[in-house]
Amino acid sequence: NQKISVEESHDPPFEETYKKLFDDIRTGKASSKVKYQNLFVVEECELPLIDLDQLKGSEFEREECKTKIAKASQEWGFFQVVNHGISQDILWKMRKEQIKLFKKPFHEKMDDKKLNFSAGSYRWGTPSATCLQQLSWSEAFHVPLTDISHSSHFSSLSCTMEQFATTVSELAHKLARILSERMGYKSKYFRETCLPHTCYLRMNRYPACPISPQVFGLMPHTDSDFLTILHQDEIGGLQLVRDGKWISVKPNPEALVINIGDLFQAWSNGVYKSVEHRVVTNRSKERFSTAFFLCPSYDTEIRSCFEPSVYRRFTFREFRQQVQEDVKKFGYKVGLPRFLVST
Ligand code: SIN
Ligand code: FE2
Repeated sequence: NQKISVEESHDPPFEETYKKLFDDIRTGKASSKVKYQNLFVVEECELPLIDLDQLKGSEFEREECKTKIAKASQEWGFFQVVNHGISQDILWKMRKEQIKLFKKPFHEKMDDKKLNFSAGSYRWGTPSATCLQQLSWSEAFHVPLTDISHSSHFSSLSCTMEQFATTVSELAHKLARILSERMGYKSKYFRETCLPHTCYLRMNRYPACPISPQVFGLMPHTDSDFLTILHQDEIGGLQLVRDGKWISVKPNPEALVINIGDLFQAWSNGVYKSVEHRVVTNRSKERFSTAFFLCPSYDTEIRSCFEPSVYRRFTFREFRQQVQEDVKKFGYKVGLPRFLVST
């Protein structure tokens, strides 16, 4: 009378839910429906690597470092930083807690009360704010910074998230200040508008995917914030558009990846680029990443820091509403082109 323990799956029921898509892919019917068919990646690249220790150096070194940051934001919309001030210990603890959290049975992750996060902080499959057209093979927890201290049931998780969020948020403000100073604009705009209840962390898990590479871990999108700071593991899967081609980013778990969001592109009048990116799945390995989003309050007016402005003024609320409307209407996010002055 051996005891058989049936371990409940922690994976979302992707296969059950997307059975039709699975079948269509297997029989070759699905490919014509895929909007972004170009899965072929031309090259793997290393993002521009910037050593933030330079900011502690001589006047010359500091200037050089700031120039690199601005240049990468203009030309790539993406870069990676080392000596960023977030200790490897915190990064490692954060990852460990995240793995533990995602290991919880699926029904527990779906239950906000159980984890004591705000309602709707967990999602799996396609994120509704980006695209409705296709499946995304991932799950995520979306946690506004002010919610972190409330997730008291998991004290080691919330302690670690708190440490991570505090240091990463400082880094985000530092980078935003450098980028705005490079545009000749010194102000408290980012400090005053991006607050703990408007900024958030997102913990992502991309389970191994049996129909990889036909589905994405995350659909192609641009970020709807000022800037994003991402910590990813060594698996890889992040890809971005450069010179009209998809290229895959070589992972460096010691570095943090920074990318410019739509709001910074609008604020900088198109100088800094919010670049389309996506995550591809892996057939045999799961992947983890954690992102911090520097976002303003909904009432914040986003306007270009110089004239003539390419985009009309808008509030963050308007931006979000427009994105949601477009996703409903077209199935995907249109984003900034909606706000061009000429349209
Ligand atoms: C994201 O674009 O929000 C996540 C990217 C990643 O997991 O690499
Ligand atoms: Fe993103």
